Order: sequence, then C-alpha cells, then structure tokens
Amino acid sequence: MTKVVLITGASSGFGEAAARKFAQDKCKLILAARSLDKLRALASELSSQCVVHVAALDVTKQESVDTFMTSLPADFRNIDLLVNNAGLALGLEPAHLVDFSDWETMVDTNIKGLLRMTRAVLPIMVERNTGHIINIGSTAGNWPYPGGNTYGGTKAFVQNFSRGLRADLLGKRIRVTCIEPGMSETNFSNVRFKGDDTRADKVYEGTKPLSAEDVAEIIYWVNAMPAHVNVNTLEVMPTCQTWSGLAVSRTMEQ
Ligand SMILES: NC(=O)c1ccc[n+]([C@@H]2O[C@H](COP(=O)([O-])OP(=O)(O)OC[C@H]3O[C@@H](n4cnc5c(N)ncnc54)[C@H](OP(=O)(O)O)[C@@H]3O)[C@@H](O)[C@H]2O)c1
Repeated sequence: MTKVVLITGASSGFGEAAARKFAQDKCKLILAARSLDKLRALASELSSQCVVHVAALDVTKQESVDTFMTSLPADFRNIDLLVNNAGLALGLEPAHLVDFSDWETMVDTNIKGLLRMTRAVLPIMVERNTGHIINIGSTAGNWPYPGGNTYGGTKAFVQNFSRGLRADLLGKRIRVTCIEPGMSETNFSNVRFKGDDTRADKVYEGTKPLSAEDVAEIIYWVNAMPAHVNVNTLEVMPTCQTWSGLAVSRTMEQ
C-alpha cells in the first residue's frame, strides 16, 4: 500500500525538503501551507515522482482546518504519517518589550495549530489502528535563550504534548515522535526578523548550520524504522552549536 504523508508547512524549509524526500519513496503526498502558489510549484516539480495533493491551510483557523480535511480526496484520506511542521518564531526581544500579538501568533500556530491538526487526523489513525505523528519541536523547548521566551515555551509544549499522546495511545499501533532541531538555515530567521535579511543572515554567519535536507532526512528515518520502533524524542544540533553556561550578571546592584 502506498503511504499517505501529510506535511504542514510544506511551502518552505523542513516541510519542503521533507516533501522532496518522501516523493523519492513514491508516497502519496498532501502538502499544506498558506502559500498555495509555492505548494503548486513544488507539486509540479514532484509530480513525475509521486501523486501530490496540495491545499491551502492556515493552522491558526479552525474553519481552514475543517475545510482542508473535508476537501481531502477520498484516496488521500487514510493518512499514515502526519508531519506537524508548520510553525514560526517572531521577534527576539526580552519579555517586557515584546509585541504581545507576536506571542499570540506563536501560540496560535505552534500550539493551537498543531493541536487542531492532531485532533483532525488522529481519529483516522485510531480507526485504522495505524499511523505516525511527527511533531517538530525545537532545542528552544529544552534550552532557554534570551528572547526565546514564548517561542521556547511553545516548543516545550510540543515536547510534553507528544509524550502525552504516546500515553493516550497505549496499546495502539500509532507512533508519536518529537524532533527537536537546533540552528537550521531555512526561512525561519527571515520570518523571525520580519523580512530583515541582513539580521537573518547574521544568525548563520561563520557557522555550518543544519540544512532543511538534514532535518528532512531525520524525519524520513524515524518514520522508516520498523513499526514496533518508536523514537520518542530526537534532539539534533549542528556540530558547531552547544549549550552556553549559566549566565551571571557581574554588574547588577546587589
Ligand atoms: N529553522 C530552525 O532553526 C528551526 C529549529 C527548530 C525548529 N524549527 C521549527 O521547524 C518548523 C519549520 O520551520 P522552518 O525552519 O522550516 O521555517 P520556514 O522555512 O519559515 O517554514 C515554516 C513553514 O510553516 C508554514 N506556516 C507558518 N505559519 C503557518 C500557518 N498559520 N498555517 C500553515 N502553515 C504555516 C510556512 O508556510 P506559509 O507561510 O506558506 O503558511 C512554512 O511552510 C517550525 O515549526 C519551526 O518552529 C525550526
């Protein structure tokens, strides 16, 4: 049976690279994001390798998720793999200076959007007693950094929710994995800095970050493991990235 793979946030970065990777496997691909033009261009590139369904999806809007699900062609309904990848960081300001609407957008996308897609797709998997959900977390969910505040919080949620799903799915042949990449060069920093390419480029200056293809390879691999093997959490960083020590201020008044 041909595997049906649904990737959210397939118009860019990890999602786009994962689409290319699964296309090599001749999966039936469902590619979703808000930028339908980019999805269509990707689908036409991949259509010689596999069957692709593209659809506009805004995970922050329940009606968009509902329309997306009800419009799935019958032969794409039996989703075997959901890659909950759509997500973003906005800003790097300290908590007392942020634009509150940026926090709301991150919560709406990274938490509530992932929940909406999971709630929509999981019943299909439970009914068939088969499937795999791969959630894209982040090292930011484990290791706080200045300005990571709510972004890190949303990804900590993704980690904990992934574990909770596993607990709920005890006895079912449904796998749940949380992949937590560190610094990766995609459109992520351009989005975070709202189109400031110079600032985005500086993030990667002098480094060899993970590429979208590196992460796609990992997404593919955890799914390709035999069905009795559940990778719970996989944290990955580029070799040039490690943790910093605990920060100590030597100038504050005691
Ligand atoms: N790059 C990194 O350093 C890094 C590290 C760890 C984790 N991550 C996580 O990896 C995931 C993918 O990010 P990326 O690095 O590949 O960044 P990216 O290149 O900016 O891709 C983000 C994708 O998410 C989609 N998206 C954003 N908001 C959406 C919404 N409301 N509804 C549907 N789709 C939406 C975007 O598509 P549209 O704009 O077309 O909707 C795009 O396809 C995110 O969850 C991110 O938090 C990234």
